[in-house]
Amino acid sequence: MQAKEFVVDLANFQSTHFVEKNLPETLETNQVLFKIDKFSFTSNNITYAIVGERIGYWKFFPTKEGHGIIPAWGFADVIESNHPEVKVGERFYGYFPMASHLLVQADKVQPFGFVDGISHRAALPPIYNYYTNVGQDAMHSPEQEELQSIFRPLFTTSFLIDDLFHEQDYFGTQNIVITSASSKTAQALAFLLSTRKKDQSLAINIIGLTSGSNEDFVNQLGWYDQVLSYDKINQLDNNQPHAIVDFTGNHQTQYALQTHLALQLKYNCLVGLVDWQHLEGEKPLPQKGEFFFAPTYAQQRQKAWGAAGFQQRVGKAWQQFIVNVKDSIQIETPVGNDGMEKLYLEMLSGKIDPKKGYMVNIQG
Ligand SMILES: NC(=O)c1ccc[n+]([C@@H]2O[C@H](COP(=O)([O-])OP(=O)(O)OC[C@H]3O[C@@H](n4cnc5c(N)ncnc54)[C@H](OP(=O)(O)O)[C@@H]3O)[C@@H](O)[C@H]2O)c1
Repeated sequence: MQAKEFVVDLANFQSTHFVEKNLPETLETNQVLFKIDKFSFTSNNITYAIVGERIGYWKFFPTKEGHGIIPAWGFADVIESNHPEVKVGERFYGYFPMASHLLVQADKVQPFGFVDGISHRAALPPIYNYYTNVGQDAMHSPEQEELQSIFRPLFTTSFLIDDLFHEQDYFGTQNIVITSASSKTAQALAFLLSTRKKDQSLAINIIGLTSGSNEDFVNQLGWYDQVLSYDKINQLDNNQPHAIVDFTGNHQTQYALQTHLALQLKYNCLVGLVDWQHLEGEKPLPQKGEFFFAPTYAQQRQKAWGAAGFQQRVGKAWQQFIVNVKDSIQIETPVGNDGMEKLYLEMLSGKIDPKKGYMVNIQG
């Protein structure tokens, strides 16, 4: 049997191709073979590539020399198993390569799922190495698998940012500026902040910054109190304290925000790098921000609440979100091997419609 992997040339991200790989005829003890059914594709996956060297995303699914496989969130079925407690036919949610198959080493198997115990993943953040058995997952429903693939990892990040802001008493600010407000992670954050604002009568102002072409879409979501395009940053009231949650990474946007808000900028939370082609600029930034890495903060919260308490809190918020977001996203028919490169190049260049949700299914 053969697998296909979609690989990116590490020296030139515009260059991609499929690699064919022979799968073993017999599995070693505890090995499990997944057929990857579908995975989502958003700018988050492009960021995995951009920071692949720095954060180690290329290490999850090693491939031929000089190339990398971008990781993605999705669903897969067990088609062969040499672990007594992992059965052929079981379906799992987790972190997969952009490929048709994945061979894993099942470890710490429980009814809820297992860890890929393969040695090259051992030092990587544990949240990425866990495969959840959908049959035991309260957050899973078969009709919502696409929404789950697209939003769940992004929603979990936003759940953690909302929690951090709440824990830190909003860093002494009332105004929270969210860049790339149309991105899915930003949508989830705006939803969570606005829900808390309503439920707890908080005096916070949720401001979305977006491209002119995405302003209408962001406005109609109804979760931002104010929506501005990037050229209107000087309309922010710099007599009041502000916090930023930055998903764009655009140097010019950071520069404009930092110089306009100056001492009224109390916290600058650096989360994303969607605008990866404009991370550098001529003028040095007056202040620095704090990098937010969801897996690290998730580990802290899991320690404080316990794994079950963490799941229960995220799950409850997720159920509310999903009801609210499902009508504002249009899930596209999954692309196959033929459409993969085109979708990748569009995503890489940022030529994507924030209303749409993209899924992929690669055949071996
Ligand atoms: N630190 C962490 O732990 C963590 C966790 C999860 C996600 N993230 C990051 O959050 C970011 C958002 O991810 P997502 O999947 O939610 O994004 P997404 O939904 O695919 O975002 C789409 C939006 O991002 C902006 N955009 C995308 N590509 C662009 C480009 N090349 N140039 C300029 N703008 C571009 C546009 O928004 P506007 O027009 O509104 O600017 C676009 O509508 C990613 O960088 C992701 O890695 C970080």
